[in-house]
Amino acid sequence: MEKRKAIVTGSSSGIGKAITSILLKSGADVIGLARDHKKFKPNFDRYFPISLDLSDFEKIESVIPQLLLEHADIDVLICNAGHGDFQALENFSSKQISKFINLNLISHIILCRHLVSYMKAKGSGDIIVIGSEASLAGKKKATLYSAAKFGLRGFTQALRDECSNTGVRVCLINPGFVRSPFFDSLNFKPGDAENNAIETDDIAKIVCDIIKTRQGTIIDEINISPASKSIIFK
Ligand SMILES: NC(=O)c1ccc[n+]([C@@H]2O[C@H](COP(=O)([O-])OP(=O)(O)OC[C@H]3O[C@@H](n4cnc5c(N)ncnc54)[C@H](OP(=O)(O)O)[C@@H]3O)[C@@H](O)[C@H]2O)c1
Repeated sequence: MEKRKAIVTGSSSGIGKAITSILLKSGADVIGLARDHKKFKPNFDRYFPISLDLSDFEKIESVIPQLLLEHADIDVLICNAGHGDFQALENFSSKQISKFINLNLISHIILCRHLVSYMKAKGSGDIIVIGSEASLAGKKKATLYSAAKFGLRGFTQALRDECSNTGVRVCLINPGFVRSPFFDSLNFKPGDAENNAIETDDIAKIVCDIIKTRQGTIIDEINISPASKSIIFK
């Protein structure tokens, strides 16, 4: 992984934190995007934390072009940042809907748009998007979450097709329950048994394997589930 340089969105917690840790330990440079980096301060001079609210497009547009000037050699983009809010649709205001979709769908599209031309010009690059089991089936109280995650699935399929023969690989990972702070603000969480949730390190190892896969092979989409589904309402 030496000489690889990655952007990881949502690097401050959960899955993004695990991906950032494994990439840094493997020798890669990592630029971490999140709002609050106090939560995670890895002790590597190859880690570059940047504070950014990804639901705010004006801020994305003011930060990313400069970042790409300073780090022109980025060859991995992990689109991971996200937030869950599970309620009946009528409980969301228009403003909440827009902010939710901005973060969980459109910010990833905008970041890919900025990175993909660099990667195409270089003839290589890996874009890995963290979707969800909610990318595959809609369930009650997950209208917004599924709208964003289904959107990511369509986007990654189309981008993959658009990038075929350019050397740029696009992969979507769809996890079921992952034990992470994602559930801190929700009224439910996975069961406590070991097999009720995927561990963040499991996802991080898969991300590493995807990046290390021989250049001529593309992994399109991976679905991962805990062995046994169980939910606890708080
Ligand atoms: N946990 C699960 O069961 C599960 C299952 C399937 C898919 N996923 C997906 O996995 C991804 C990561 O979730 P997680 O489980 O690791 O949750 P998490 O521990 O809550 O981490 C979410 C990350 O996203 C960042 N983030 C949230 N809002 C942001 C904003 N407005 N601007 C910039 N960064 C923001 C957070 O950083 P700051 O708060 O510091 O900004 C944090 O680093 C999400 O896309 C989620 O939908 C999770």
